[in-house]
Amino acid sequence: MSELLITGGSGFIGSHTCLVLLEAGHRLIVIDNYSNSSPRALERVAELAGVANKECLKIFVGDVRNSEALDLAFRSAEDRIDGVIHFAGLKAAGESFKKPLEYWDVNLGGTRCLLDAMVRHSCRTIVFSSTATLYGHSAQLPITENAEVRPINPYGNSKAAVEMLLADIASHEAGWRIACLRYFNPVGAHSSGEIGEDPKGTPDNLFPFISQVAVGRRDQLSVFGGDWPTPDGSCIRDYIHVMDLAEGHNAALDVLQREKPQLLTLNLGSGVGYSVLEVVREFEKVTGKKIPYIIRARRLGDAPCTVADPTKATKCLGWQTRRSLSDICRDGWSWQKKYPFGYDPPQK
Ligand code: UD1
Repeated sequence: MSELLITGGSGFIGSHTCLVLLEAGHRLIVIDNYSNSSPRALERVAELAGVANKECLKIFVGDVRNSEALDLAFRSAEDRIDGVIHFAGLKAAGESFKKPLEYWDVNLGGTRCLLDAMVRHSCRTIVFSSTATLYGHSAQLPITENAEVRPINPYGNSKAAVEMLLADIASHEAGWRIACLRYFNPVGAHSSGEIGEDPKGTPDNLFPFISQVAVGRRDQLSVFGGDWPTPDGSCIRDYIHVMDLAEGHNAALDVLQREKPQLLTLNLGSGVGYSVLEVVREFEKVTGKKIPYIIRARRLGDAPCTVADPTKATKCLGWQTRRSLSDICRDGWSWQKKYPFGYDPPQK
């Protein structure tokens, strides 16, 4: 049992990971400014995990760029935090072109502030929420961790900068245990349908868009490009069930705590790619819902195909994805059907 600090724990990936960690018996302190999430998510996590005891899940509303808020969180555990999982950050690639300074401030500035606080409070174990966006348009398929890091947007640049910072710390300061987890496309929801992805405004990503079409919030899906060099002309991605991803964090933390100090950089993906049209067909099959779509022009910045080679994660963590595309569709739909407007439906 460990005492863990989770930044951004009420977000999509954070909330599912909190559930897995609580079920594994850890005690959590979450710091979140709710900039892109709802307090409801952690209320549901607490219910699902059956933690009536407030000692198991403490929540601080605060920003990771605020040293005092971080100090408060560390002190609440009497400076006995065993490790940090750092989710808090901005993650919309398209938006990052409009707000580059904000992306660097929150993603790099926030991490620097967090690392300072960790040093002040003698904690040197961190799992960092990184992204496959780092690889840009990789020529390699499937993509291994050795592929060139060549981001194509400010969001990816800011995540790459954090990875560089962490690598510098790991090589020049003793005692750090660091895992950079490069996520492919996290989707789906907990099988209860009680927690899931709840994007604000029009979803940028494929799965939430499809689910909102299915539930009647949107008329049709736009498929961005039907002329890509892929078998059916639509782009191929490696979709990973958010619960598999959450379990990957637990596994990474276990390994960091068990083994000698090290820097682990790992792809978290399934190793299998599906095209947009294959996803639409699978979603229709699993849910019985028709997803009307129209093929439109390619979206700027998209790559035709990204698929992970997750061999290193399997080797280092003894972890691999267990859930299929059909599980992803079923669980994602169960959340969307139960909560068509997410955690905070508009008041009538
Ligand atoms: C995007 C982000 C990435 C982020 C990831 C989270 C970009 C360039 N990348 O990846 O930084 O980590 O989400 O999951 O934004 N599509 C449609 N119609 C839609 C939406 C998407 O056809 O309405 C297609 C896209 O063209 C793409 C595929 O679906 O081929 C997946 O798109 P998306 O879910 O946005 O993920 P990525 O672009 O791979």
